[in-house]
Amino acid sequence: MAGVAREAIALALVLATTASVLLFLPDSCSAVLQRFHQPIKANGSLSLLVVGDWGRKGQFNQSEVATQMGKVGEKMGIDFVISTGDNFYTDGLDSVDDPAFEESFTNIYRAKSLQKQWYIVLGNHDYRGNVSAQLSPALPKIDHRWLCMRSFILNSEIVDFFFVDTTPFVESYWSGDGHQYDWSEISPRESYISNLLKDFEAALKESTAPWRIVVGHHPVRSVSEHGDTAELLDLLLPILKVTSLIPNSCTVARRLTFSLVSWYLKITG
Ligand SMILES: *[C@@H]1O[C@H](CO)[C@@H](O)[C@H](O)[C@H]1NC(C)=O
Ligand SMILES: *[C@@H]1O[C@H](CO)[C@@H](O)[C@H](O)[C@H]1NC(C)=O
Ligand SMILES: *[C@@H]1O[C@H](CO)[C@@H](O)[C@H](O)[C@H]1NC(C)=O
Repeated sequence: MAGVAREAIALALVLATTASVLLFLPDSCSAVLQRFHQPIKANGSLSLLVVGDWGRKGQFNQSEVATQMGKVGEKMGIDFVISTGDNFYTDGLDSVDDPAFEESFTNIYRAKSLQKQWYIVLGNHDYRGNVSAQLSPALPKIDHRWLCMRSFILNSEIVDFFFVDTTPFVESYWSGDGHQYDWSEISPRESYISNLLKDFEAALKESTAPWRIVVGHHPVRSVSEHGDTAELLDLLLPILKVTSLIPNSCTVARRLTFSLVSWYLKITG
């Protein structure tokens, strides 16, 4: 989210379960949000890395973070990577031919362990560039790891990930904060958001996975300098509460372990 470069954050998440019964997830569900499926390991576990605020052509310690991600990814045997957006600073991509795609992504995350599927959402800095370029099917042809959409769902047996496009929620981006945003294809804001919330709520309610994780660029609550995101508190949080993460199958015996390792790197702007 940083306007001027302030921080690069890489998070590693390990999800492991020794579920004796794996839930079968029907593939019907939401009409609109596209779904993807990520198999879990044979022993019922899943490992992944999460990174956000990264595209710096290697600068601002992006390369150093990438090296550490490669090492941890190897150690954990990660299955995939999630990007929470701000994929390309400071103004997204210009087009699918923008060399930043390779300079900030392909050529940076070269470690063997990172040659997995990346599931990617957009941040506010991505919206300052050409959004359709980042969403274009041309990019996975350049680098097959790239899977970027505004909002989508990833089913992975023990966990459902809900990727939510949070940037359009933030009113100040629409009302002129001194930057240009690419709202083409989603304007007007109100109908885009109400449709998205409807689809998101329906999908959350239908989810039977023991874990449900919502991924977005902007935090609902935060102690960082940006603070809470008022629009998400107002519009998204009520849906998260209604469809709370209460397990809906008491018959499934399971033991989940969840650990969070994070690197937090302060950088000068
Ligand atoms: C499952 O296997 C992976 C390696 O394939 C290992 O790293 C992980 O610790 C195992 N998890 C469990 C819960 O046994
Ligand atoms: C990179 O990180 C080091 C600390 O590891 C710091 O001294 C340096 O200023 C950082 N470089 C940039 C460009 O932020
Ligand atoms: C955005 O990128 C697409 C794909 O490269 C390109 O066709 C389009 O002309 C670009 N739009 C603008 C406004 O540059």
